[in-house]
Amino acid sequence: MAEREVRIYEVGPRDGLQNEQRAVPTEAKLRFIALLADAGLREIEATSFVSPKAVPQLADADELMRGLERRPGVRYPVLVPNERGMSRALEAGADAICLFTAASEPFVQHNIGMSIAESMTAFAPVMARVREGGLWSRAYVSTAFGCPYQGEVSEAAVVGVAEEVMQLGVDEVSIGDTIGVAGPADVRRVVGALLHAGIPPQRLAMHFHDTRGTALANVTAALELGIRAFDASSGGTGGCPYAPGAAGNLATEDLVYLLEREGLAHGVALEGVLAAARFISEAIGRPLATKVGQAGGWTA
Ligand code: HMG
Ligand code: MG
Repeated sequence: MAEREVRIYEVGPRDGLQNEQRAVPTEAKLRFIALLADAGLREIEATSFVSPKAVPQLADADELMRGLERRPGVRYPVLVPNERGMSRALEAGADAICLFTAASEPFVQHNIGMSIAESMTAFAPVMARVREGGLWSRAYVSTAFGCPYQGEVSEAAVVGVAEEVMQLGVDEVSIGDTIGVAGPADVRRVVGALLHAGIPPQRLAMHFHDTRGTALANVTAALELGIRAFDASSGGTGGCPYAPGAAGNLATEDLVYLLEREGLAHGVALEGVLAAARFISEAIGRPLATKVGQAGGWTA
């Protein structure tokens, strides 16, 4: 990928919806995904094959994947916590798999009922099936900048877990500010440590929650360090049910606007993202509250 090209990895249908109390109909989720593809997004994280008790909003994962109208050139990754989830994902025709663990023990325990080491053990057979099927894969390292249960998280812990998931053979590692506490200096510290440890920037993505309004500043810091992949959610929805205090993801429309002003290529149409953002806001029954969602784009 060229230095001036950025990948926008859309997490709205998964992270954006997983914490919503009001059930969003499968049909509306499918329409949202179609609008995101219309906007030019080429990576759309569709759902999670987790326990329906853990995340009731995504209990329709099997049905949703069966109803998906797949566009050529678009990847639809899904979250998988264990072998059971992998079997469901394969049966539903998933071709891109996301594992998820974290840099702090109590978060992994609350989120998936495992220690970090147990999560690696659970992922090994999942990755064997990823390799068998020639699927694309990523792993999330959550709480990389702070943990809702433990507080501070060291960059050494982030590097250690990132190296472990890389050794499992994932294509990409997404570094998560799960509760949105990082500022640019934290990004320089943590991403600096990952790069220093020899992880290539092309294998990293950043996943910022905008809980405290620092996500765009954090993107700028990561861009300066050579990172060219960012997770974002159209409409700015999002949060993890097991991360108290986590608010919305960085909004895709805010990210697109920033990248436009930076003169970076991304292949996504702002108007299309805004159409998807308006649609999902209506479906969840909340007004669109993102900055660019309210102000719109700008051309002189
Ligand atoms: P558990 O209760 O510890 O384990 O859950 P279990 O194996 O005893 O399973 C409990 C029940 O779930 C059993 O059913 C299993 O059959 C069933 P029961 O006997 O009670 O009827 N089960 C499953 N059902 C469907 N699909 C499966 C599955 N596995 C077990 N795959 C488990 C362990 C991992 C399943 C659970 O804790 C879980 O599903 N957790 C998911 C939590 C989650 O999705 N969190 C949000 C995503 S992470 C995130 O948002 C952060 C991120 O955005 C990055 C960032 O912001 O940093 C990615
Ligand atoms: Mg998240």
